[in-house]
Amino acid sequence: MQTMAIIGAQWGDEGKGKITDLLAEKCDLVVRYQGGHNAGHTIWVNGQKTVLHVIPSGVLHPHCLSVIGHGVVLEPENFLNELAKIKGVTNVTPENLKLSSTATVITSYHKLLDAAREAQGPEKIGTTGKGIGPAYEDKVSRRAIKVKDLLDKDTLVRRLSNGYAEKAILFKHLYQIEIPAIEQEVERLYRYGESLKDYVVDTFSLIDDQLSKGKRVLYEGAQGILLDVDYGTYPYVTSSSTAASGIYNGAGIPGKKLEEVIGVAKAYTTRVGEGPFPTELFDDIGALIQKTGNEFGATTGRKRRCGWLDIPLLRYSVKCSQLTSIALTKLDILSSVPELKICYAYEVNGKVVDCAYPGINLYNAKPLYKTFKPFTDDFTSGKPSAELETYISFLQESLGIPVGIYAYGPDRNQIVFRQSYS
Ligand code: GDP
Ligand code: IMO
Ligand code: MG
Repeated sequence: MQTMAIIGAQWGDEGKGKITDLLAEKCDLVVRYQGGHNAGHTIWVNGQKTVLHVIPSGVLHPHCLSVIGHGVVLEPENFLNELAKIKGVTNVTPENLKLSSTATVITSYHKLLDAAREAQGPEKIGTTGKGIGPAYEDKVSRRAIKVKDLLDKDTLVRRLSNGYAEKAILFKHLYQIEIPAIEQEVERLYRYGESLKDYVVDTFSLIDDQLSKGKRVLYEGAQGILLDVDYGTYPYVTSSSTAASGIYNGAGIPGKKLEEVIGVAKAYTTRVGEGPFPTELFDDIGALIQKTGNEFGATTGRKRRCGWLDIPLLRYSVKCSQLTSIALTKLDILSSVPELKICYAYEVNGKVVDCAYPGINLYNAKPLYKTFKPFTDDFTSGKPSAELETYISFLQESLGIPVGIYAYGPDRNQIVFRQSYS
């Protein structure tokens, strides 16, 4: 297998970082293709925790080339801080980390605008406040700054001038915020450009070249399919293409097809921020899962909303990204839950619906549950108990694809392979 993708199958935070780190062992390149530092991908190796935001989760493997593709939105200050931090953990150099020259830059006003809009409403999205949406807006309106523009002051001034006056007026009169003077922002961005220039390359050509040499590429998604700007629960979504289609736009798979698309799913469901969530739990079991699962966002520290596993949503994710297998995480958290349920379908206006197609109003979807016997596995034998196997098999049969991996703890080794992925 030469090309593989790891994509969140729910609303993010499914454990993509852990699964990417695990499978990076078998790959030559790990490529991020969308999103930005709204992502928080956690990896634990031998008791040491690493949280990555834009740097790909293969970075702990010295043989792996880490690539940040052109579909990513990059906040230079945050990137440089993350880089400095990871250099304390592993050897990262311009030889093994590459940043696309055409990735979009997140500027000061993107972050300010994100915060101002969230404060003003009326429809709050519950964003991470990192400026992601406004940066993608500028990209689509052709006013964005690309990473390569940071490397030439004249170009930077010219590109930044597009719409700067308009933004200054908007901020001043609508939000009563002064944005930095353009000269100040140019100086700031140019300084960061100087610090990151050694990492900047044409990543499309790089990936093309590596694929033609037979190298194995792993594409690491951020967020999850249900947060995709087109496929997700709009408007409560992020502003990028988080589904498999985003790989073609945001990095490229020159001349190749995706051979394996792994959807990462928690054994239950979580969501951060606003938006519909049919199986959300408001009772003691929800509180137990939230507490035992330590369900707090890796980027913002916000409490994650928790609920039962939702098959209609996962069926939809399988269709949206043509998932070929599932990596099921956090089964250990369910082993302390006395009663288990999976939502196998919804009742919507008196009809049973088994796939969460966008035409369905999720606020109006009543989950129909199947109850499962609890399992109390300690997982170390690598063989699931009959109860755990029943839980996993129900998911496999409902989705029509295998659970190729399941995880029972945050560490790299707390994993069982049911498929080889070689
Ligand atoms: P990502 O954004 O998809 O990479 O996921 P996050 O890192 O935001 O959140 C997943 C959290 O679950 C992290 O704290 C991981 O260390 C943790 N995690 C991943 N897999 C497992 C697992 O199987 N069991 C437990 N207990 N924790 C896990
Ligand atoms: P990883 O990669 C979970 C959510 C936010 C909000 C919505 C829009 O760690 O899984 P944005 O700042 O992107 O405009 O916020 O998307 N969100 C995430 N939720 N995991 C993430 O990333 C997320 N990135 C964004 O909470 O609801
Ligand atoms: Mg996360």
